[in-house]
Amino acid sequence: MEDPFKYAHEKEDEIIWMSQNTNELETSPMINLKILEAVKKRMYTLYPYQQGLAGLKELLLRDLGIEEGFDALITNGGIEATYVLTRFMLNEGDNVIASDPSFMPIHHQVRLCGADIKEIYVYKEPYKMTVDEVNEAVDGNTKSILLIDPLNPLGSAYTREEVKGMCDIAEDNDLWMIDDITYRDFAYDHTLTTEFVPERSLLIYSFSKNCGFAGMRLGALIMPDGMSKELHRWRANPLSTNILAQVGAKTALETKSQWIDRMVKQSRKNQEIIKKAVDTIPDVFLPVYPSNTNMFVIDTSETGLDPEDIQEKLLMEHNVFVRAGNYVSAKAGQNFIRVSFTVPEPQVRVFAGVFPEVMEELRG
Ligand SMILES: Cc1ncc(COP(=O)(O)O)c(C=O)c1O
Repeated sequence: MEDPFKYAHEKEDEIIWMSQNTNELETSPMINLKILEAVKKRMYTLYPYQQGLAGLKELLLRDLGIEEGFDALITNGGIEATYVLTRFMLNEGDNVIASDPSFMPIHHQVRLCGADIKEIYVYKEPYKMTVDEVNEAVDGNTKSILLIDPLNPLGSAYTREEVKGMCDIAEDNDLWMIDDITYRDFAYDHTLTTEFVPERSLLIYSFSKNCGFAGMRLGALIMPDGMSKELHRWRANPLSTNILAQVGAKTALETKSQWIDRMVKQSRKNQEIIKKAVDTIPDVFLPVYPSNTNMFVIDTSETGLDPEDIQEKLLMEHNVFVRAGNYVSAKAGQNFIRVSFTVPEPQVRVFAGVFPEVMEELRG
């Protein structure tokens, strides 16, 4: 299929979007109200304050429990935050240690700097990097460890001991810890690297997944105090971020205690529904369950089917958009499809109904 995104976007409202870990579950009605108020006031006529909407970064740091000693840049998505920090820390010949599968756009950003990304293959037990593997991968040119925790696409998460182990390596080898916490709110348990190496932690925060703001393009780069000027220099867009997104994000954080538990509960119920369907299909399994994110991968390797064919049939015949594994891993991608489940429950039930049928039909 030439471009599934073009196809899906053209049919946007008819599509069940389980392809990009976006989140359509209910959060707070206040978010829309506040954004609409801002539209009425035509707040969009002015450039926003470079440091972000008053109070936004303080709310963010409070949400993470790191109000003291840290600062934040409000960025155009978490993806601008990773862009900024790769530009800031990397030169030709340097390298960063990361997993494969992974969120590949960050690997691309590392390579844009002329640096290398040392990928540790994790499509095997325990489906995440081990402290020993990371330790072995470090060399004289290593600048950083990229810890995506919990991990897109597998849904695995690092224990407190493992996070500490990774931080010890960073400490011993004078490395930055890039702690990508995009899916933190979905995790059963989560430890920030700031607990162990506050002065060498750079956190990637996204409003796309927990708050359902993917289309708003808002995130943050969180850093030790005193670094914001230096990091700001590398902004792709130094003129701040969309003001309506910031108004919405501020409201989302202010109201978070009212909706986060309900939202995560629904996400977990949705993954259970899919698990039950997967369990009925011969030779198909979930490598990581339960997932600590709003997605997981479904391993289809033993069926011999091409994940691209599964993706295409689900999209063309059922309007269900999932992703073939090669989107998140060149090496392991032939083994799985990635499915995200923060869509309304009736849509999850559609997927759970059609997926076994599609697999049977494809197997002939
Ligand atoms: C691990 C990870 N980091 C960062 C991002 C970027 O998120 P955004 O730019 O939408 O905030 C994503 C998006 O899928 C992701 O999966």
